[in-house]
Amino acid sequence: MIIIIDFGSQTTHLIKRRVRDLGITVEIVDADSDIQFIKDKNPQGIILSGGPSSVYSENAPSIDATLFSLHVPVLGICYGWQLTAKLLGGEVVAGHKEYGPTTVTVVATDPLVKGIDKKEFSVWMSHGDEVVTLPQGFDYTISTPSVQAAGVSNPSTKVYGVQFHPELDHTEFGTQLLQNFIEICGLTINPKKIDAAEVVAEIKAQVPAGNDVIAIAAVSGGVDSSVASAIVAKAIGKRFVPVYCDNGLMRPGTTEQVKKVFADIFGVEPLIVDCKKIFLDALAGVSDPDEKRKIIGKLYIEEFEKVLKNYPTVKFLVQGTLYSDFIESSGTKHASQIRRHHNVAGLPEQMKMKLLEPLKQYYKDECRELGKQLGLPKEVLQQQPFPGPGQAIRILGEITAERLALQQQADTIVYEVLQETGWYEKVFQSFPVMTGIQSTGVKGDFRFTGEVVALRIYDSNDIMSAGWTHLPYDVLQKMSTRIVNEVPQVSRVVYDITTKPPATMEWE
Ligand code: XMP
Repeated sequence: MIIIIDFGSQTTHLIKRRVRDLGITVEIVDADSDIQFIKDKNPQGIILSGGPSSVYSENAPSIDATLFSLHVPVLGICYGWQLTAKLLGGEVVAGHKEYGPTTVTVVATDPLVKGIDKKEFSVWMSHGDEVVTLPQGFDYTISTPSVQAAGVSNPSTKVYGVQFHPELDHTEFGTQLLQNFIEICGLTINPKKIDAAEVVAEIKAQVPAGNDVIAIAAVSGGVDSSVASAIVAKAIGKRFVPVYCDNGLMRPGTTEQVKKVFADIFGVEPLIVDCKKIFLDALAGVSDPDEKRKIIGKLYIEEFEKVLKNYPTVKFLVQGTLYSDFIESSGTKHASQIRRHHNVAGLPEQMKMKLLEPLKQYYKDECRELGKQLGLPKEVLQQQPFPGPGQAIRILGEITAERLALQQQADTIVYEVLQETGWYEKVFQSFPVMTGIQSTGVKGDFRFTGEVVALRIYDSNDIMSAGWTHLPYDVLQKMSTRIVNEVPQVSRVVYDITTKPPATMEWE
């Protein structure tokens, strides 16, 4: 097995994933772990992750240097390499800062760069410090004009380092490099595909035997809750109840889709709770976005609690948490927190149930692959992320049944045009916003006053930043023409061309 020592990088788990995908048993341990603890695991190789610290900063995480005397190959990545250099007598300085793509050059023949058939290739850097003097016994293997020690090797002790991140998708030959290290460790690569049957079996094993209803989920119709629930449905069948609270704020067609997915594909009847009126009544007269979110979150819990009363034997709450949600919401021990996840509400804390989280170890693409293997339709798996409060935060100001209907009509048009023109799967999110602005229009011979609809359509990889999608004019024209023609009381359609930051994705 390979051990990864975690210094708090946002991508430590991604290293684990890459190694696991190569068919190798891998475990992440904390940087504070005792050396004996690591020795006892008898690893064939050790990877030191990156991390947000500088090796010279106060409280910077470190390791016992005897790790390098275990005669086990070590690969330091970014901070892990800088720490290796420091502990073995090299020099690290606050250097040339590099973030993002960088071209590196292979400068030596070495097992670490085996199979990299280009002299120059592109890697992803993210560092402020750099190693300027190599510890004894190390040679340069990969360099850039500004960072000579982009990749280094000590063939006699089998200690290696890379300043860039081989675990990232954007790093060319990243997997090859990790594979080379694994082979240096004497392990055999046996690439492994994710297997839904294994995940289903793991869930089955977590749930005690019996016939009573034991697990429940609040499903939204979105990708993550659908796949997580599908896994549980497959594992325990009718002992599981997916609950869909139809609050009227979701995309049109979601209720039907939820019914189809669970009843038709898995033979588990979902419980559809019609609470449209309760939500709309509670939102009447409310314009403040935070207030809207609070009301929706609170009502959601109340409705779910009402349902729970009918299932006294339930012990597990199923959630579609992905590994990336976990990392973004809480961070690993040394990671700096990057984003608070704004989920609808703290359902699990309030309900004292055990969590069943089948996707906790997986990323979004793996979640989609699991869903595909389980037979979920493409329309479910390729959906865009949809906010918990639904269309409520896409209707600025007060939500009325009329404005909600207009928004949903416009939403369907945006969806249909993007699907027809092949753009839907290329964009990150796309939706109309009812701006609340009234402007003049002319339909036929009549002047009228109607609401301005803004289209928010953008690309993003990581949610932290986004750019507006440069849609062809004819696609925009099609949407605009259909919206003003088909949605009554809309006078004008505008396109939001603001990046995030400074603008957020949602308008509220
Ligand atoms: P912003 O608007 O913060 O959106 O740039 C980033 C992502 O988060 C979604 N979003 C929400 N999701 N509850 C959610 O579950 C919310 O209150 C909420 N607000 C925004 C948004 O759709 C985008 O994907």
